[in-house]
Parts: sequence; structure tokens; C-alpha cells
Amino acid sequence: MEIDRRVFIASLGGTTAVSLMSDEAKADALEEFMSARLNEVVNAQNAPAAAPFPTAAELEAQIETRATRRGVGNLFVARSGNVKRLDKMPAHPRLVDFFTMRFNNTSNHCLQSATKALRSGMSEEVVLACLLHDVVQEIIKVDHGWWGAQLFEPYVSEKTTFAIRYHQALRFYADPANGYEYPDLYRRVFGHDYRPEPYIDATYQMVRKHKMYGEARMVTVNDLYAFDPNAQVSLEPFVDIIGRHFKQPKEGLGYDNSAVAHMWRTIERPDAPL
Ligand SMILES: [Fe+2]
Ligand SMILES: [Fe+2]
Repeated sequence: MEIDRRVFIASLGGTTAVSLMSDEAKADALEEFMSARLNEVVNAQNAPAAAPFPTAAELEAQIETRATRRGVGNLFVARSGNVKRLDKMPAHPRLVDFFTMRFNNTSNHCLQSATKALRSGMSEEVVLACLLHDVVQEIIKVDHGWWGAQLFEPYVSEKTTFAIRYHQALRFYADPANGYEYPDLYRRVFGHDYRPEPYIDATYQMVRKHKMYGEARMVTVNDLYAFDPNAQVSLEPFVDIIGRHFKQPKEGLGYDNSAVAHMWRTIERPDAPL
């Protein structure tokens, strides 16, 4: 191992200090110095390489390297290989049918969030909001808070809708008093120097003063930013909460002539060409 003579002498207090040391003390000091340097080198080699977060501009530059846009819904693009044939849904599909047959890429994450909310004693309206907060990403990711709230608006309470709609804006703003820190995941996904768009900032300023702020904030607190692919989750603990708080239309989701019926039909048959 090479040693830098000047650094070694400086570590002992300079040339004058060294000149006052015995030969034996100098030898001991050199051995100690070399062993400390060796430890530094080994530690640096063993440390996991900290992948730097990209900048927003670097992410922007990747747009033309992709065949699909980042905001495309999960149902419309395969993560690898080709998309799979989807199971035929029942004639009068219920929310639980969509969970088991269409929300394949988002249900695990949403069930983990709802499980966390249930265990921490959240209200049933907040648990339901956590259960539903990201499932609209099966059709679109852009502005998924707004899209998601619209998808559920005819069927759930205002508190649940409010929480789903605004969790999207609140996730960019830390609230340590309520247990929410800005997640590293967003430094990776949006860039470490990302600043939310003005409409997101204006939404945050409105929501933080709103009486339902707590409901929306709790979706971000119970959201998960490090996904556990092996987590054992089940819809079963939420079936009663859905029964109490989700107004299931008897015609089936997609067939009740509501203002959002077409959104449910799009989730049911994403392979329709037009
Ligand atoms: Fe979300
Ligand atoms: Fe989420």
C-alpha cells in the first residue's frame, strides 16, 4: 500500500513533532497509520455503491428512449414480454371482482397501505381511501389522484374521495408532525431537484387548510414507498368495510349509467381497439 508521506507527517503533528519522536514511536505510528488507511480502503470497497438520484432534466432527457410514455396505465403495457389475455369478468362486476381480476399491478401495494391503516386504527373511510388510492393507475398514472377520486366519486363518501384526490399533491410536502417525510422514492422517480408544478403547489396550499386535510394526509402516511413484493396481503379484512362504505350498483360497475361507468368499462376491456 502506498502512503502519502506528507499526510502521514501531518497526522503526527508536523515535522517538528516527528523530529522529537523516538525511532520506535515513529515505527508504531507508521504501522497504526497504515492499518487505518487499509481499513478505509476495505470499508470503501465493501460499502454499497450509493446510486445517485437523477436530476429532473436527466429524466426528461429519457423521454425519447421509451416506446411508451411514463404516464401510461399498467393494463396497457407489459412490464416484460407481451401483455396477457385477461379473464372474462362477471356480467355485473363488483369492486371485489375488479380487485381480483383487473387491479393486478396495484392491488398488492394498495392492500399493504390499507393493512397499515387498519392496524394503526384509522377510520374506515381512511382505510377505504388507502385501499383504493392508486388502483386507477391501471388505466392512467398522470394525475392519478384526480382520476382515482373521479372513478370512485359516485360510490364512496366525500371524505374518502377527498383523501384519494389529494394524496397525490400532499406526497410532495413533508409533514413530520404527522409522521410523513419526503420519500427517497420520489427523488429517484421525479429527480432530486424536482419542484412540484404550480397547480400541485396551489392544491397543497388549499388542502393544508381544509377540514379534511387529515384524511388526505393519512393516505400519504400509510402509503408505502419501499414495496415489499413478498408481503402477505388479502382483501378479506376489507370486505366488510367495502360493504359498509362502497355503494355497489346492482347493475354492476360499468353498467349503472353513472358519469364514470365508461371508466370501469375501460378497465374491464382494455383490449377494445376503439
Ligand atoms: Fe398515489
Ligand atoms: Fe401509493
